[in-house]
Parts: sequence; C-alpha cells; structure tokens
Amino acid sequence: MITWSWCLPPKVTSGRCAAQEPEKPAEGARSEWIPARARVSGSGFPPLAQVSLSACPVSKMLLAATLGTVFLLGAVPSVARESRGHISVILLGATGDLAKKYLWQGLFQLYLDEVNNGHSFTFHGAATTEPKQGQKVMYNRLKKLACPPDVPPDRCAVVKDQFLKLTEYRQVKTAEDYAALSQEIQTVLRQEELEEAGRIFYFSVPPFAYTEIARHINSSCRPLPGAWLRVVLEKPFGHDLRSAQQLAGELRTFFREEEMYRVDHYLGKQAVAHILPFRDQNRHHLDPIWNRHHVERVEIVLKETVDVKNRTGFYEQYGVLRDIHQNHLTEVLMFLAMELPANISSSEDILRSKLQTFTALQALERSSAVVGQYGAYNGHVREELQKEQGYFSRTPTFAGVLVHLDSLRWEGVPFLLISGKVLDERVGYVRILFKNRAYCIQNETMQDAESSQCKAKQIIFYIGHGELNSPSVLVSRNLFKPVMPEGSWKEVLDLPHLRLFGQPLSEYYAYVPMMERDAYSILISRIFHGKKDSFITTENLLASWEFWTPLLDSLASEVPRLYPGGHENKHLLDFEMVGRQVSFVVTEMVEVMHARDEQKPDAYKTIQSRFRQSQLITAWSDELIGRLALDIEAAAAAAIGKSRAFHLALSGGSTPLALFRQLAVHHYGFPWGHTHLWLVDERCVPLTDPESNFRHLHDHLIQLVRVPYFNIHPMPVHLNRRLCVEEDKGPELYAKEISALVANASFDLVLLGVGDDGHTASLFPRSPVGLEGSQEVVFAESPVKPHQRMTLTLPLINRAKQVSVLVMGKGKHDIVTVVSRAGHEPKKWPISGVNPSSGQIAWYVDYEALLG
Ligand code: BG6
Repeated sequence: MITWSWCLPPKVTSGRCAAQEPEKPAEGARSEWIPARARVSGSGFPPLAQVSLSACPVSKMLLAATLGTVFLLGAVPSVARESRGHISVILLGATGDLAKKYLWQGLFQLYLDEVNNGHSFTFHGAATTEPKQGQKVMYNRLKKLACPPDVPPDRCAVVKDQFLKLTEYRQVKTAEDYAALSQEIQTVLRQEELEEAGRIFYFSVPPFAYTEIARHINSSCRPLPGAWLRVVLEKPFGHDLRSAQQLAGELRTFFREEEMYRVDHYLGKQAVAHILPFRDQNRHHLDPIWNRHHVERVEIVLKETVDVKNRTGFYEQYGVLRDIHQNHLTEVLMFLAMELPANISSSEDILRSKLQTFTALQALERSSAVVGQYGAYNGHVREELQKEQGYFSRTPTFAGVLVHLDSLRWEGVPFLLISGKVLDERVGYVRILFKNRAYCIQNETMQDAESSQCKAKQIIFYIGHGELNSPSVLVSRNLFKPVMPEGSWKEVLDLPHLRLFGQPLSEYYAYVPMMERDAYSILISRIFHGKKDSFITTENLLASWEFWTPLLDSLASEVPRLYPGGHENKHLLDFEMVGRQVSFVVTEMVEVMHARDEQKPDAYKTIQSRFRQSQLITAWSDELIGRLALDIEAAAAAAIGKSRAFHLALSGGSTPLALFRQLAVHHYGFPWGHTHLWLVDERCVPLTDPESNFRHLHDHLIQLVRVPYFNIHPMPVHLNRRLCVEEDKGPELYAKEISALVANASFDLVLLGVGDDGHTASLFPRSPVGLEGSQEVVFAESPVKPHQRMTLTLPLINRAKQVSVLVMGKGKHDIVTVVSRAGHEPKKWPISGVNPSSGQIAWYVDYEALLG
C-alpha cells in the first residue's frame, strides 16, 4: 500500500528559521513534505527539526533520508524512498561576483531538481569576509533566487524557503576553520543518522588561493570513508604550459584526478552541450558529410561589445587568446573535430577521443593569427594599473586564429577561432559551412528552399545573444531535417524573415531549447552526477596549453592592430586566409605607412646594387623574400626550358622558412613537377626530428606543394639505424646520387645563408674539410649543437650555375659589414669562399642586415 506524507515548511524569520508548529497549507498551495532538520548546537544552521519530526507521520528512516529534501505530495510514495545519502556543498567565494551572478542560482536549481531524488543537502557559503557582513551579502543574494517558469509560484516559494534554511554562511580563513567546518558536517550526519554521500567544494576564488585551500581540504575536510569528494575549479588554470603544469602538479598532491572538476562554462551552454548529442543523433545524415570532402570551413566565434574596464589587472596578463581561445573556443573545436565515440554517454570515451584530437592539431605559427587591441585599452591599463604615460600594452583584445588538423577527416579544412572585446555585436556561434557542388541554371525562389542544392548549406550552433538572442540549432533545409530530442528542443516557426548568415530563418530547420538554462546550473548538475566529460581534465588542460603556448610566445612582442571599437571598426579587423596563413584584408593604417615611407624613401622598393662585386638585392624582409621567390621561379623556368629539370639545393636554419612558405603559398605556377629538391646541409638527427633541416623543408614546403617523391633528396644522415657514422658512407652516397642525376654535378641554384661567424652551409671557420679539395659532400663539425653535420663542400657549391645568398635580420649586420670588405678567405669566413666558377652569385640582404 502506498502512503503519502506532507508537512509545511516552517516560517523563516529574517533569514533564519524558527522552530514552530506546522501550519495548514494555504488555499491553493500544493502540499509538500518538508524534511526534518535537527538543531545542531553551534552550527549556525536554522533550528527547525523537532517540531516537524513530531508533526509528520513518517518513519525515522525516511526522515533521515530526506533531510533537506522536499517531496511533492502525490509524487513520492514514502515507502518507496530510501536514503541515497547526504551531500554538503561548500561554495568558497560565496560573496564574490561569480557566486552572485551564477553560482547561487545554479545551486538553487540543483536543489530544485534533485530535492525529490532521495538525497539530502546542506549548503555552506564560505568566504574570508567576516561573518556579519558575509552573511548579509550572501542572504541579500539568496533572497533574489528565482525559479524557472515551469515551477508553480507556490512550489517555488516553498523550495526557496527550504533552501534558505539549509544554507549557512561561515568565515573560513585558517586550517582550523576548515577543520571546524568538517566537524560540523560530521555532527549533523551523526545527529540525523545520515550516511554521507559526498562533498562538493566549489572554488570561486582567485587561483593564487587554490593551493592553500586545497591543502586544508585535503588535510581536514575530506568526506567520511566511502563518500566522494568533488572539487570544482574555475579558470584561469595557468598562464602557459609551464605554469599550468606547475598548478596541476600542486593540485595533484592534494586531489585525485577523478576528484577535480575544472569548469569551462562554455561546455554548459546549451548549444555547445548539444553538439555531441546532435552529432550522435544525426549520425545517419552526418557520417557521409562531416569531413574534408564536404566541409568548406568551420567558424567558432565569440564576439563581445564590452570592454575590460575594471578587469585590466587580470586581462593585461591574459589577453583574449588566454581568456577565450585557449579554453572556450578550443573546447568547442574539440566537440566538432573529435571522432565521435560509439557511446557518447561514456565520459571516458569522450575524453579519450578529445585527447586524440589534440594530437592531430597542426602547430600554430605566428602567421596563423591576426591580433588587435581596442583603442581605449591602453588608457584603461594606465589608469587601473598606474602605468606611466608612455606605457604601451601589447595585450591583444581581439584575435582571429586559423587552425588546421592533420587527420584524414579534416585535413585542409580551415577552423577559424575568433573572439574580441569592443566589437560591433555580442554574439557567439559555431558555423559549419558545407561546400556547394551544384550549379543551378534557374534562379531559385524561397519556396523551394528544401530542395535547392544551390543555396548555402550550413549547420549553426548558435550559442547565444545576437539577433536570435537564444541558444539554437539551425540546419539548412537543403541539408537534412535533423533529429532533435523531443521534450527539450522545439522548432521555431515564427520569425521567418529574420536573416542569419545570409539566409532567412525560413531556410533553416531551427530549434531552440524548450527551456533556457544557464550554463552554470547545467554544469552544477553535471558535477552532482559526476559527468566528467563536461569538465577539463589535467591531460586535456595541458594538451590545450601545449597547443597555444608557442603562438602566445611568438606573439609576445607583436604590436596588435589598433581598432576604434564598435561599428567604427568597419573592415579594419576583417582578415583572410591564404594557405595556412591569415592576414588582415585592409593594410595597416595609412598614416603609419607614410611615416615609415618618409623616413626611408625607398622603403617599399627593392634596391639593386653591388656587394662583393656581385649583384645585391636589398629591401625590407617581406619584399626581399617576394623578390627572391620570383627569381627562383624564373631560374626554374629557364632550367626546365633547357633540360626538363630544375635542381635546387636548399639550406636549413630558420632564415629560409619564410621563403619556403612564400613559394608554397604564392607561386601556383611553380614547376614543382620538374623540380628536384636537394639539401645543402643536414644535422645528424633523424629526419623527423624538429632540428632536422629536412623536417623544416618538409613542414614548410614539401607537404604543401606537389613535388614528385622521387625528386626529393634528403641527405642520408640516418643509415643502418645510426646517425652519421663514417663507415656507412653517407657523404659518398649523396655525392653519387648528385652525380647520377645532376649534369656535371652543377646545381641550377644553390640557396645559402650566412651565420654570424661567417659560416655557410655547415662549413664553419677553420673547418679541416669541405673548404677545398675534391670531395663533394663531407661530414663536418659545428661549434653549436647538434655538432655533427653533413654538408656540400665549397668546391661543389662553386660548380653551381647560380648561388643565391639570403641574409636577414639585425643580428647579421656585423658579419655583413665584415664580409663586404673581406677578400677570398674561406678559412676565416667560409662564405667568402663562395665564388661560382662559371655561374652567378646574387646577394639578397634585407635592410636590417645591411644597414643595422
Ligand atoms: C569568460 C571570460 O570566461 O567568458 C570573459 O573571462 C568573457 O572575458 C566571458 O566575457 C564570456 O562568457 P559569456 O557566458 O558571457 O559568453
């Protein structure tokens, strides 16, 4: 037989509960069963239990099991309900901003959702603020808690009232405070005869406080044996890979991995949280098209209109890339790009797949990003951080980053990650734009949106704000009608004329959540349910920092483009992709260019002159590289015209990388099919080693162009599974290969650089080999690591038809000056021995190297 129990909530008097007799329910109010709450001396909790106890005809077991819960009359048969244990939630930073804005509401929502599910709860707001003040601030916030629209007002009032009674404020500062808190929880458990299910500690405090709090929790606030501990951490989780590793290492000494829940609140946004379920429920439609053959590009965008006033202390150290890209946008990227596990309800499978996706990300380079800074930012920094008048911050407040993945699914598909402050609108979205292969002869009309193959095909996860002002999922009607979970998402049929991403809403299947929920309340619920895949594990965090740190380092000294803010930005921040690089569409502000022009009248022209009685081409580095690439292409065309092949020998090091990229990205007509690539020198490391010259050539050129495999000639430094051993005769092998393929062993073009000691190729000053004699390829020693090298010799280089020497950067100015005056002294400066016997030599020296 089923029996029902009810009693009314006791009254609340100025935020505390007074013990009193239950009253009859008010007319129209739904009757609820309110749990008993034992008085705990010195606990600070409202005393309300004994009366209810005697007033409610329920078993002791049920009472104990439902401490802190509210059963709806008619909903829960008392005989069926067993205790699932007691949960203590401790909100650290209870009076802070995040708590005020989201966390208390999220905890209240948790209570509303879970109150009938057999657990009992207590909530402890903790902060360093002294008790009277802290309590006041906290209760002022609690009074404003609201229920979602589907909760009837009378139930809302009852539950809210109860929540207030179960919540106490306490000041925590010292180890003793934490021990006392734990004591108090244990006393409640004992007195109420409750099993402890777990404790949640929510760290809504600055990261510098993490370690100390973690230590206190670990030493004196862990739950009783058998119960779980969950600590919830808010970003920032470090500043770069090293600091993240350090913080992770410290936390690991106090908590086990499964106990830590690092929050990225974007994972709780409804549209983001629905990406994986959407991919799962629509596998049938998506499997054939979720790949590089069908996806044109993916945009992950968070535009904001706010500035960072009053936050510059934080922002100046972080900037937009650390604040948004490294976490929110990267997490979204993972949800889109990861291989979908067969079972998406397995947190482990999702986390594993995510980590695999991190390994597929291609390394970012300086040219993978454009950065900007809103005009008023510097003023905010000077004012808030008391910087002097001349202080100039380089912190970006806007960034557009181009990400590529090395995977069969995504190779070549650009993923654009964009975010900024003080932009023209507030909006967040993910847009997957599909390729359009159809050509439609006749003009389309709006009516046949579903069948038209010529209209844009896109899937949009609209995160929020913007014109729709609601999370939504949009699928172009000419793609497919998606399966959406009934009961939680509904189709939008009004607003047909609203235009989004170039199409009226009527051309999409558009869905919004039945009920909008705040990200934090979703995440708090997931913490409660132990759903780890909505949080950032240590491995995930470090993988993300490993990906972003090199870009952050390379941007450290970059001056961001200034933008005025809002609609005034016009096209200033528009950027375009060219190959693997991005650059602003509108060139730098005109005034700046003029200023530079006046100082150096020929600034943007290449100057031709003489250097060591040979041709000298000089310009700013970009123009110089452009000119050299053109000259190489012309040499290739000439060689192929004569002998159907172009033999090009390339140097290693960092100087030629920009040239490689220039050739790969801007020279579509380059005759790669007839070009042979040779190495001028190589380090004795495996070819896959990041130090290998061949590896550089591969990453910056070979993999981007279509050179036949048999035309690629790496130096044989790795033979018989060992590196550069004399008896393996690597140099001889390479010399033979050259003689076999290159007529007279005379390369069509050899590209050289110059070291600041005057070395060229791997021929260093006073080298005993390679500067003269009959050998063509030799092992050589470098004074810098890796010491062992293989290199072409000067006699072989001097047989080339053309030698081009590229020298760039201020650091090379001194050697350029020395070499300009030196005679033929290869022992002192090997570069001075480069003197093609019947060919040409041309010097490509940028202004910085030439003029210092
Ligand atoms: C936070 C950033 O993580 O996310 C803020 O620190 C940013 O700078 C905010 O404004 C954006 O989140 P939401 O939920 O407002 O889109």
